[in-house]
Amino acid sequence: MLVRIQPQDVEIGMFVRAFEGSWFDHPFWRSNFRIETAEQLERIRNSGIEALMIDAERGAVPPPERHAGERVEMPRRTSLRSRARPLATVLKSRSRTTFAASDSGDRAAPRPRRGYAGECRRAAQVIDRTRGAVTNMFEAARLGRAVEVKKMVRLASAIGASIERDAKALINLVRLKEKDEYTYLHSVAVCALMINFARHLELDAQQVEDLGVAGLLHDVGKVAVSDEILNKPGGLSKGEMRSVRGHPAAGHRLLESSPGTPTLALELCLRHHEKIDGSGYPGGLKGEELSLAARMGAICDVYDAVTSNRPYKRAWTPCEALTEMRKWEGHFDPVLLDRFADSLGIYASGTLVRLSTGELAIVVGSAGAAGEDIVVRAFFDCGALAEIEPVDRAIAPSAEHPRIIGRDSPTFWRFADWDVLRHRILAANVAPAL
Ligand SMILES: [Fe+2]
Repeated sequence: MLVRIQPQDVEIGMFVRAFEGSWFDHPFWRSNFRIETAEQLERIRNSGIEALMIDAERGAVPPPERHAGERVEMPRRTSLRSRARPLATVLKSRSRTTFAASDSGDRAAPRPRRGYAGECRRAAQVIDRTRGAVTNMFEAARLGRAVEVKKMVRLASAIGASIERDAKALINLVRLKEKDEYTYLHSVAVCALMINFARHLELDAQQVEDLGVAGLLHDVGKVAVSDEILNKPGGLSKGEMRSVRGHPAAGHRLLESSPGTPTLALELCLRHHEKIDGSGYPGGLKGEELSLAARMGAICDVYDAVTSNRPYKRAWTPCEALTEMRKWEGHFDPVLLDRFADSLGIYASGTLVRLSTGELAIVVGSAGAAGEDIVVRAFFDCGALAEIEPVDRAIAPSAEHPRIIGRDSPTFWRFADWDVLRHRILAANVAPAL
């Protein structure tokens, strides 16, 4: 049974089925999830939505006086869906990942999780199989030949299947590129990140596939730029810069002449270097002029670039990358950047998060050979409503417990001066995480 309630009546433990009102005011890119953190609660209460539907059979319900006469027996999916933008018609497909993200969905029926190590082995085979095909695609493009799009669809499908089994396995593996394999592995990485991101946003299955293909093809125009320029450390001359800035249009021209290229792949290829403030290229588009695909692509492209070793820069860990990317004002859609972080279960340093242990913690950084673990400093017991002796925990990608449930809100917990408290906790002398 669905119950229609006002945003101010929302509580932790309720199961959201749909938001009403303008899609632009929606506080989340998805519906159908349990409210688990104060940060989610605050986002809903502060949004501009008129009301929302909660599922009384899958979560908590407000007292009857708050929703008298507002119960409905059947989901109103059709009417709600019709209000969404075309690319965000999110209710058709229930494709899900196993991530513990801040607005992760229905925990009442979790999918069985396969071993992370086992999926790493399978993901490595998928990456090996893509190596030849993507390299050949770039070579053919270099000779001016059309892209065999059907092959790319098959590759995207194999990558999507690995993401479905355990997203972090392939995404963590593909981040560890050697310098000479950057070009093709960057395509595979952006494909994987786009698929994972699209699934997190609950885009429909066709859009997920098309965005995966778009990730594989987005940089094909780089065949028109010399390797010397692409790998040059330091600044570029005006002419070299012009050459680099021409690769989106060059790739777009090639893909236009390649039969079967998805529209989203054409869009991503042309627009992945645009910025939200209009300072990107080639069109200088800004804000709402940029499609969801373009905004997603800009994030995935940069994230993979900065987390990969390049001739001129060491790789950032995921935590460092997100921390820095959040500082680049005007570059990315900030709301979408947070959703991207949720899709990967990564957090910027200093973020307040809630743990499955019932503790609040502050993200400290990364650990592990490839920076795949997230180190948090637990400092507050939510049950006892009291500070505890700070302790660092390194949380592995596959950890079920303790795990990070999601971002939380300092305001909700009424920390008098969050910046001062955070500084004090982070300055504390704490033994290194095991
Ligand atoms: Fe590019």
